[in-house]
Amino acid sequence: MNKITTTTLKKMKASGEKFACLTAYDASFAIAQENAEVEVILVGDSLGMVVKGQSSTLSVSMDEMVYHTANVSRVCQKSLIMSDLPFASDITKEQAYSNSARLISEGGAHMVKIEGGTTMLETVEFLSQRGVAVCSHLGLLPQSVYKVGGYRIQGRAPEEAEQILSDALALEKAGTDILLLECVPAELAARITASVEIPVIGIGAGVNCDAQVLVCYDILGLTSGTPASFVKNFLADTHSIQEAFEAYVKQVKSGQFPTDAHTFN
Ligand code: KIV
Repeated sequence: MNKITTTTLKKMKASGEKFACLTAYDASFAIAQENAEVEVILVGDSLGMVVKGQSSTLSVSMDEMVYHTANVSRVCQKSLIMSDLPFASDITKEQAYSNSARLISEGGAHMVKIEGGTTMLETVEFLSQRGVAVCSHLGLLPQSVYKVGGYRIQGRAPEEAEQILSDALALEKAGTDILLLECVPAELAARITASVEIPVIGIGAGVNCDAQVLVCYDILGLTSGTPASFVKNFLADTHSIQEAFEAYVKQVKSGQFPTDAHTFN
C-alpha cells in the first residue's frame, strides 16, 4: 500500500475501488491494521466505551483524543489517520479549529471527524478554508445520544432521509473531504454515495458506500453485550488478529461485507 492521502481516497472513489477503515486507539492495533492495508485508521471517540468502559462517547476529552491519536500516528507510515473532535470540543468554529490543530500537530492526525450536518456547515467551511481535512459524520450521531434517546437507525422517515441527503450535499459544498454515514437505510446511503463526488464511509449503511468502518474490538468478538446487527466477528473464521484484519479488508474491498444481514432496509 502506498501512502494514503485525501487525493488517494478521492481517486479510489472515482475509479470505483472500495477502501477499508477501522478504529484503533493504540500502537499495537495500529501496526496490525496498517500491515493489513487498512487505508484509513479512525481514532474514534468510541474509545469512551471500548477503552474507558463508559456507556457513551460523551466523557472523552481533547487530552484523551490527542493521547490516543499520537499513540496510533507514531507507528503508522501509510494509513491515513482520522481523529474525532470529541463532544463539545467544536462549539464554535474557532474552538473547532484550535482543537483540530491539537489533533494534527500534537496527535499527528491527518483528518478530523465532526458529527453533525447543517449546524456544522460554517465550522466545516472555516476548517476547510484553513487547510484542515474534514470528515463529516451524519445519520446516527453518538454525541447526541441523550437528545435522540438511544442508538437507533436514522433516516427511515422520508423527511429525515431528505434532510440527511441535503446535509451531505451542503457539507460537500462547504469543503468536507469525506462523509461517514452511521446507521441509515442502505437505499439512502446508496443515494447519497451516488450524489456526491467525495468518498462515503458507511457503518450500518449497506454495501453501496465507497468504504466501510467498524470498531476494531467488535470485529474481534470483543463486544460487551450484544453486538449491533451490522457487526461481523472476523476473528471467528481466522486464526489471529492479523488475519482477522486482513479478512475484513479483503471482504470490504470485494463487496462481500456487509451482507444483507448487516444492513438496514
Ligand atoms: O467513534 C467512532 O469509533 C466512530 C465510528 C463508530 C464510526 O465514530
